[in-house]
Amino acid sequence: MRLPCTLLVLCLLKTAFVHEAAGQDEDFFPFPYIRGSLTSNWNVTWCPRDCTCPSEVIVDCSGLDLYSFPKNLSVGIQHLALQNNRLEGIPYEKLSRLVQLKTLNLHNNRLTSKGLPHGVFESLENLQYLYLADNKLTQAPRLLPPSIEIVDFAANYLSRIYPFTFGHKPYLRSVYLHHNNLMNAGLPDDMFAGSTVVTTLVLSNNKLTHVPSDLPASLTRLHLQNNRISRIHKAMFWTQLSLRELYLQNNKLSSEGVDKQAFSKLQSLEYLDLSNNNLTEIPARLPPNIVVLHLGKNKISSVQEDSVSRVHSLEFLLLQNNQLTNRGIHRKAFENMKRLHTLHIFNNRLEWVPSSLPHRLKSLMILHNHITEISLYDFADTYYLTELNLSYNKLFSSKIHRLAFRKLGRLENLDISGNFLTLIPAGLPGSLEVLRLQNNQINSLSSEVLSNLTLLKELYLTHNRIKVGSIAPGTWQEVHSLRLLDLGDNDLSYIPPDLPESLEYLYLHNNRIAMIAAEAFYSTPNIKVIFLRSNRLREAGVPDVAFSDLKYLQLVDTTGNLEYINILEDSKLDNSTEQVQRAPAAGYQETSLLQNPRT
Ligand SMILES: *[C@@H]1O[C@H](CO)[C@@H](O)[C@H](O)[C@H]1NC(C)=O
Ligand SMILES: *[C@@H]1O[C@H](CO)[C@@H](O)[C@H](O)[C@H]1NC(C)=O
Ligand SMILES: *[C@@H]1O[C@H](CO)[C@@H](O)[C@H](O)[C@H]1NC(C)=O
Ligand SMILES: *[C@@H]1O[C@H](CO)[C@@H](O)[C@H](O)[C@H]1NC(C)=O
Ligand SMILES: *[C@@H]1O[C@H](CO)[C@@H](O)[C@H](O)[C@H]1NC(C)=O
Ligand SMILES: *[C@@H]1O[C@H](CO)[C@@H](O)[C@H](O)[C@H]1NC(C)=O
Repeated sequence: MRLPCTLLVLCLLKTAFVHEAAGQDEDFFPFPYIRGSLTSNWNVTWCPRDCTCPSEVIVDCSGLDLYSFPKNLSVGIQHLALQNNRLEGIPYEKLSRLVQLKTLNLHNNRLTSKGLPHGVFESLENLQYLYLADNKLTQAPRLLPPSIEIVDFAANYLSRIYPFTFGHKPYLRSVYLHHNNLMNAGLPDDMFAGSTVVTTLVLSNNKLTHVPSDLPASLTRLHLQNNRISRIHKAMFWTQLSLRELYLQNNKLSSEGVDKQAFSKLQSLEYLDLSNNNLTEIPARLPPNIVVLHLGKNKISSVQEDSVSRVHSLEFLLLQNNQLTNRGIHRKAFENMKRLHTLHIFNNRLEWVPSSLPHRLKSLMILHNHITEISLYDFADTYYLTELNLSYNKLFSSKIHRLAFRKLGRLENLDISGNFLTLIPAGLPGSLEVLRLQNNQINSLSSEVLSNLTLLKELYLTHNRIKVGSIAPGTWQEVHSLRLLDLGDNDLSYIPPDLPESLEYLYLHNNRIAMIAAEAFYSTPNIKVIFLRSNRLREAGVPDVAFSDLKYLQLVDTTGNLEYINILEDSKLDNSTEQVQRAPAAGYQETSLLQNPRT
């Protein structure tokens, strides 16, 4: 089974500091009913007070603030829910007699290791699921029954695990130990001896300094992020032939500390996260089936000819926040990478777009570099690109070749904001849907540059130097699909004329607009939202007729003008139109808000 890509995208954008929930495991909540379901009205005498007993074998005493273990539990019960209570201990005789128990949920109590007597789980010969996360345990139970399948001890203070805690458990599949105080010395030598079907081991957020040895060969997921691991020895992972997901981000790995063969035998590995370490090079001999390789936030300065190009399955390569220069990237570094579609290389030291980008690339995030020039050839082979982010580089209009984007017939999203552009680049592909050019020095708009952009929906030009007089007639003529136009923070003295009919959102805040002509919105009958905040408007300069035919208008923001402007007051609109004070949205506080409920 391959990891689903949609999930991966989410993962790779969020993995770094997400608290790892065991609940991500599909078999984590085996509890076979929902509280309050139809069957929950059994009038059975043995159900402890305040608890729910949906069947003879299920007792739910969760969330009752219990300080002590419930009395009179029937010996035959199989599932006992005691999560979210205040238990500090469990008397040996009360628990050990429940020999039919399969599920015991003690998540989020106040249990200490002292409060769990030795051997308290030993007689529970049918126990499969044991949840003890969010308690105050300092040592793991010395012995769990051989029937156990899933164990969650996350978010305790564990510093010690014993040989028979997880050893000799023929059915054990998943072990969650994240957010504890585990050091390597607290783990037994052969922690999983005789436990041969373990697939998931989560040890993130502990104090490990190296990868535990003798891990079961059956592992598919191993999470070791947020530890202090500084070394990975040569044969460390040589038996992990099933491992698909290896998380090592936020450790102290340096390139010297990682053996050159360390990852070479991980033939099933699909997801490798080494971000936020101290690597200066990409690890050598990466196995060929990796799909997602996360190397962000290291000190990597080079990509050698064969460091990633042999990873044939690679789809996502994340190299952001490193020290890459163009000289450090080999000419053939990405050659033959037929599946690579997402390359994040932002926040590095690139001065130009690396040559020979992977041919199948769809998303290139190359923002926050030092790129000064886009040549005719930079994007000559990347026909599949749909998303290109060149923002916050050092681009001048004169240094972007007028045909640079000509081959990008699938480009939908282009971001060149935060550069030094004075003009909208020429020759933009007609496939564009979102164009971001804010924070440049654009001072004029000509009709040609937008003429092919018939699919363009959103255009961001905020923080430029545009005057109404420098917008050429016909500029908006062909942008038939434009719904959002952001011209905030420019030099406009009135509403630009002939805006496209498709327009719904118009941002004109922080300009110099002093007057609104009666016919200002004639060409935009579909407009919904107009931001006019912080201009130079007075009540007299805002004729109500300008708005009276706008059937879909929901909001006009005139905050921060020279006078309080109440568009509604004299409005000829019928009285179902209300003025509403709403909580400020997205940094805007609306003091004059026109609400038209007919929409
Ligand atoms: C449970 O017992 C109560 C009173 O003892 C009674 O009113 C109720 O109808 C009984 N419910 C069922 C489902 O038998
Ligand atoms: C426990 O059960 C016994 C008889 O089975 C009963 O007398 C006693 O009241 C019960 N205690 C509680 C707390 O329900
Ligand atoms: C990273 O490695 C350098 C030497 O290569 C070392 O000086 C530095 O302390 C390391 N940083 C961390 C966070 O381990
Ligand atoms: C480009 O990067 C900036 C961050 O600087 C981000 O806000 C923007 O959404 C990105 N653009 C695209 C098209 O992804
Ligand atoms: C618009 O597209 C046509 C053909 O697709 C092309 O010939 C023309 O040069 C383009 N115009 C601009 C301004 O890019
Ligand atoms: C609004 O119109 C309704 C009838 O359509 C009328 O009953 C109501 O008094 C009017 N309200 C105001 C404030 O004019």
